[in-house]
Amino acid sequence: MSSASVVEPGAVRPLQTEGTQAARLLARFRQVRDFSERLSESLEPEDYVVQSMPDVSPTKWHLAHTSWFFETFILKVWMPSYRTAVPQYAFLFNSYYNAAGDMHRRDLRGLISRPTVAETYRFRQSIDAHIQELLESADDELLDEMEPVFTIGLHHEQQHQELLVTDIKHVFSHNPLHPVFRPRDERQERREIAPASYLNFEETILDIGHDGRGFSYDNEGPRHRALVPAFSLATRPVTNGEYLAFIEAGGYAQSEWWLSDGWDHCRDEGWTAPFFMDTVNSRVVHRSNALLGFPYGRDFKYEERMVVGRGVSGFVRATVMSTGMAIGPRALSIGPIRALAKRFIPAPGEGPPKEQREGGSFDVHVVGRNARGEVVGTCKISGAGDPGYTGAAKMVVESALCLSRDAQGAGGVSTPAAAMGDALILRLREAGIVIDVFQ
Ligand SMILES: [Fe+2]
Repeated sequence: MSSASVVEPGAVRPLQTEGTQAARLLARFRQVRDFSERLSESLEPEDYVVQSMPDVSPTKWHLAHTSWFFETFILKVWMPSYRTAVPQYAFLFNSYYNAAGDMHRRDLRGLISRPTVAETYRFRQSIDAHIQELLESADDELLDEMEPVFTIGLHHEQQHQELLVTDIKHVFSHNPLHPVFRPRDERQERREIAPASYLNFEETILDIGHDGRGFSYDNEGPRHRALVPAFSLATRPVTNGEYLAFIEAGGYAQSEWWLSDGWDHCRDEGWTAPFFMDTVNSRVVHRSNALLGFPYGRDFKYEERMVVGRGVSGFVRATVMSTGMAIGPRALSIGPIRALAKRFIPAPGEGPPKEQREGGSFDVHVVGRNARGEVVGTCKISGAGDPGYTGAAKMVVESALCLSRDAQGAGGVSTPAAAMGDALILRLREAGIVIDVFQ
C-alpha cells in the first residue's frame, strides 16, 4: 500500500502558539489520542486483529476508525491541502456513517489483516501530524467553527476506548491460555467495600432534553416534559464478590433471576459463569501447595475458567457441572444454598441418559506461568465420558482405591495432591484418563 503522504513516527512538532485556543485543543487531542495507544501497549500484534464475535471489533480497527473520524470530519473538510494516503481506508474504517460513504461489513472486521498494525499506527501518526498542522495554521474564526466537531471527535475516541477494552477482554476470554489485558492491582484487593444501599427517588415530572444552549445532537431535542416513575439507584456498582455470590447460589441455573432474552442467551451460549468449580478447586490447589511445603512458592496463584459448547447440549453439560458437581462445601454450609442445592442436584436415577454420559468428554488445559507471565509448562488432562458422571465416577473410585491401598498412613484434612500425588496420577492413567505434562 502507498504511504506517500504518511508522516513518519516522531514527526509531531511542539506547538508554537502556547496558551492559545489552538494549544488547548491540541493538548486535549494529544491526551486522548495517547491514551488510546497506552491502552493498547500491552498487546502483541496478533491480539490487535482478532474479532471474537460480530459485536466485537479488533483493536486495530478501533485505532484506525477513530483516526478516520478526524480525517473525514476535520481534515477533509477544513484542510484543502490534505490528501489521504490510502483512499480505501475510508471504506474499511467507516462504521455507520452512511453520509460518509460505503462501509465494510462490521462482522467481517476480523478478516482484515491489512493494513498491518504498524501501518495502522502510521495512519494514526499521519492524522495526528496533520491535525497539529491544521490547528497551528487556523485563525480564530476557523478554530471556533471546528471546535464542536473536534470535541465530538475526542468524545468519539473516548467512547471507542471503552469499546476497545471491552472487546479485547472478550477476545482474551476465549483463549485457553488466559492472556491478561492488565495484571490485577493487588493493592486494590485489600480495600474494604462499604455495603450497598439504595437511594430512592419519588415520582416526578421533569423537563428533559437539550435546553438550547451550546451544541447538541438532533436526538437530544426538543426539550419536553416527562413523567418519571419512582425508582431506586444503588449507592455503588455491583462488586465482583457479589457476582460470585450470585454464581455460587446457582444464579446461572435459575430462570427467575433473568429477563427472558438474557436467559435465552445464557442457555444458547452455554453460560455457567466463570468456571463454577474454580472457587472450590483453587482453594484445594492452594491448600495442596501449603501442605506440600510450598513447592510452587508462597506467592503461587491458581485459577480455573471454563469453555463450554454452544447450544442446548453445551448448556445441559454446563448446568450438570455447575449444579450437580459444583455446589462447593462453602456454599453448602449456608442454609438457603443447601436447600437450593437439594432442588438442583439430580436424585438417584435422574440425570443425563446413557448415550449422553458415554458420548461426553472432558478436556482440561493447565497453563503454568512465572512471575513475568511467561509460560513455563502446560498440562493436558482429557478423557472420555461425561465429566459430571462417567469421568467423575472413575476419579472417585480410583481415589478411594488409592487412599485404601497406596496412601496408607495418610490422614486428617488433606487434598488429593498432598495425600495421593503421583500414585493417583498412575491410577487415573491406567483408568484411561490422559494426563500429559509439557515443560
Ligand atoms: Fe465510532
